[in-house]
Amino acid sequence: MAPRFDIDLLMPAPMMPFIMERLDQAFHVHKLWLAADADALLAEVAPRVRAIAAAGGAAITADLMRRLPRLECVSGFGVGYDSIDAQWAGTHGITVTNTPDVLTEEVADTALALTLMAVRRLPQAERHLRAGRWLEKPFPLTPSLRGRTAGILGLGRIGKAIARRFAACGVPVHYHGRHRQADVDLPYHATPVDLARAVDVLVVVTPGGSETRNLVDPAVLKALGPDGILVNIARGTVVDEQALVAALRDGTILGAGLDVFAQEPAVPQALLDLDNVVLLPHVGSATTHTRQAMGQLVVDNLIAWAEGRPVPTPVPETPIEAG
Ligand code: 8YV
Repeated sequence: MAPRFDIDLLMPAPMMPFIMERLDQAFHVHKLWLAADADALLAEVAPRVRAIAAAGGAAITADLMRRLPRLECVSGFGVGYDSIDAQWAGTHGITVTNTPDVLTEEVADTALALTLMAVRRLPQAERHLRAGRWLEKPFPLTPSLRGRTAGILGLGRIGKAIARRFAACGVPVHYHGRHRQADVDLPYHATPVDLARAVDVLVVVTPGGSETRNLVDPAVLKALGPDGILVNIARGTVVDEQALVAALRDGTILGAGLDVFAQEPAVPQALLDLDNVVLLPHVGSATTHTRQAMGQLVVDNLIAWAEGRPVPTPVPETPIEAG
C-alpha cells in the first residue's frame, strides 16, 4: 500500500519496530543502515528527503543536513538532542522536535534508584549474596541516605521530579542552573563548585552538548568531598570521566552512580575495575511504557508536520510555536 504522504523520510539508524511500522504507513522511509552502500543511498535520496526520524544518539550534523536541500523536519527520539545540530537547523528553517515530559517520571525514578544503589551499595550486596559469601559473613554496613543533602545540577523538568523524590525521602535539596528560578523555593548556588560544596549527593541532570562539556571537573569533585556521591543520568560528556576515575580511586569522593558515559556503549575499563561506582547501560527511560510514549511522540511530531499543523514538541531552537 502506498504511504499516506508522498514525502521521503530518512531514517539513519533503527528505531523501535512500532515506530518503523507507523512511519512506513505514512512516508517513503529510507533506512540508511540497511543499505549495502549507505553513501550511495544517501546520494540517491538526498534531493527528495524532507524529514528525518532520528533514533536516540544518531548524529544529525550540519554536514548531513546541508546535503538535504528540501529538509524541513527532524524528529528526535529522546528528550536530549545534543546529537542533533538544532542550532544550525533552527537558523535554516528546519523544525527539530524531541520527546520531553513523557519520560520525566521514569528518568527521575532511575535517578533515585541509582542514588540509593550507589549510597547503600545495593548491587555489591546482591553480588555478595549471589557469590555465596553471605554464608560466610554478613555484607558490611554501608553509608546511608540519612543526614544527606542532595544537589541538583540542572533543575529542569526531570530535575524537579528528582527533587520531589528526595523531598519524600526527607533529603533537603539545593540546586544550580544557569539562572535562579523565581518560583523555586530551594537554596540556589551560583556555580557547580558552590553547589557541590553544600551537598553530599550531586545529581547531574543538565543537557549535554558543548555548553556543559566537563562541567563536573576536578574542582567540582573536590568540592563534593570524601563523603560525596556523584550521580549522572544526563550525558557522559557533562562529567570529566578521567577526573572522575581519579577521584573515585584516591577517595576525593566516596562513590558514583552512572547511567551515561562519554563514549557509550563503550565504558572505560578503569570504571569497570572500580568497586565504588554503580554502572547502568543508559536505562534512564528504558521501560516499555515510557519508550512507547516517546516513540508515539516521534510519530505524532512527524504526522503533525506533514499535515501542516504545529508540531507538539519543538525544541527551543526551532523558531515556531508548539501545537
Ligand atoms: C533516550 C535519553 O531514550 O531522552 C534522552 O535524552 O537519554 C534517553 O532517555 C535515549 O537517548 C535513547 O537512546
